[in-house]
Amino acid sequence: MKAVKEADRLYIIAAGTSMHAGFVGKQMFEQLAGIPTEVHISSEFVYNTPVISKKPLFIFISQSGETADSRAVLVKIKQLGYPSLTITNVPGLTLSREADHTLLLYAGPEIAVASTKAYTAQVAVQAVLAAKVAGKTDLDLSRELAIVANVMESITDHKEQYDAIAKDYLTQRNCFYIGRHVDYYVALEAALKLKEISYIQTEGFAAGELKHGTIALIEKGTPVIAIVSQESVNLNTRSNVKEVKARGANTVIISLRSLSSETDQIVIDDVHPLLTPLVTVVPTQLISYYAALHRGFDIDKPRNLAKSVTVE
Ligand code: G6P
Repeated sequence: MKAVKEADRLYIIAAGTSMHAGFVGKQMFEQLAGIPTEVHISSEFVYNTPVISKKPLFIFISQSGETADSRAVLVKIKQLGYPSLTITNVPGLTLSREADHTLLLYAGPEIAVASTKAYTAQVAVQAVLAAKVAGKTDLDLSRELAIVANVMESITDHKEQYDAIAKDYLTQRNCFYIGRHVDYYVALEAALKLKEISYIQTEGFAAGELKHGTIALIEKGTPVIAIVSQESVNLNTRSNVKEVKARGANTVIISLRSLSSETDQIVIDDVHPLLTPLVTVVPTQLISYYAALHRGFDIDKPRNLAKSVTVE
């Protein structure tokens, strides 16, 4: 905690799902603790290093603790004399051994290649760290996380709903997830999960950016799944949904109850606005699961992927 407090800027370094959790963490470190935070793709950072602030802290997020791309950055920043913290699920492995500090996720072993519970644990641990650094605020994080756990449970109680969406909507080779604000970060993770295990070509897109080119790909029947969890962008995202619908897309809206409209297909009970990624991601993980199941693919061991990638 001291290391975070002393930093003038945080640099989150990660790959894949862990990077998407890092984007959500950025929001928390900035909004709760007021510390400017950057998120970088590890394989890019190492060879194209930006100007670094005077008192940085490097935060490595890695489920496996072994990702070679992230380790290459750790080696480099250690040579430069900068402090580091690793947030990982697997104790004692390279990234935690070599960093100055380690925070463990305690998510339990992840068996499937596609990361799910590690993602939610990475987001939750960053929330706890950001709240600790922030000190006394109006946010009662333990209470809010307990609400999140209940809402997650109620989402998984309705599996048949996600099964039906996978069957009825994901009938084509491609799919889009869209969202604004933190919903954009969840859209990135939702898209990665769907492509990893169902092989449907999926893009996660900032809802407002879609019209600047990519909307050309929308045709009759293209599935577009929108996430709506932030009041400030609720109407904007909904107007982007209308735009794609007008071009033939089959749209699904995942929304928070207080922002929902009658026609939204998936409505989730409210949680604290900073913690919505913990709940909105769950239906998307289940949709991916059912999409892969319907296609008859090995959900735990998708092709071409490995749980821990130890080569650059
Ligand atoms: C691999 C996996 C991804 C994972 C990424 C980062 O590419 O297939 O699911 O998100 O590595 O792994 P890490 O262990 O560093 O979180």
